[in-house]
Amino acid sequence: MACQLLLSRLPAGVAESENQPETEPIMNKTATTAHPILPLLAERWSPRAFTAAKIDATALGSLFEAARWAPSASNLQPWGFVHATHGSAGFAAIVGSLAAGNVTWAQHAPLLVVGVAELTKADGSPNLYGRYDLGQSVAHLSIQGAALGLHLHQMAGFDSAKLREAVSLPASHEPVVVIAVGAVGEASQLPSPLDERERAPRSRKPLDSFVFTDTWPAGRP
Ligand SMILES: Cc1cc2nc3c(=O)[nH]c(=O)nc-3n(C[C@H](O)[C@H](O)[C@H](O)COP(=O)(O)O)c2cc1C
Repeated sequence: MACQLLLSRLPAGVAESENQPETEPIMNKTATTAHPILPLLAERWSPRAFTAAKIDATALGSLFEAARWAPSASNLQPWGFVHATHGSAGFAAIVGSLAAGNVTWAQHAPLLVVGVAELTKADGSPNLYGRYDLGQSVAHLSIQGAALGLHLHQMAGFDSAKLREAVSLPASHEPVVVIAVGAVGEASQLPSPLDERERAPRSRKPLDSFVFTDTWPAGRP
């Protein structure tokens, strides 16, 4: 079921009438895994080309509901999200804070989401797990998105002061990530060399380079 959604040009999370005509074969970006993993995890990847189809309200609700149910240290849930749809003033303001290399493609995404961490606890002490917990909630959101046939592309390439101003963030909170969300578009809509990068196979370090038994190997950085 989930695999069918992921390979479809008609993801569940977007309005059918707004989908683009199909002109390019769908790329296979599924991870080549050394061990079996959940299909949604293997099929998640970070595109730069998105269709213009808007995310419908039901899908939007499910994305943030998934983020809501992530675990967090002391259940503080120190995350927050500001979302803006393509064409809105809020969307343009967020784009204005992005690094130039991200603007190139992210300006065409149907939805941008700013992921925010609350780094100070109610008693004034620092929440050392604020960014960790936000990341975990975004991981939940990304897999819920995959189940809806949507993809995310997270970005750390932004001007923090500009982004803070763009979304009127209070000093107690930190903008940590901007996330483009949508249905996968066609690599050919990207300028070079992004189009080649879009088609390139995904890669990861081998498991034995970062998973160890009992102790960290002596002398290993
Ligand atoms: C915290 C974070 C910051 C990232 N920042 C950027 C960015 O500024 N620009 C960009 O193009 N990709 C960015 N990425 C995407 C990564 O490059 C991408 O996830 C990685 O290459 C693995 O590709 P995959 O997600 O398709 O497996 C970021 C990802 C994360 C999690």
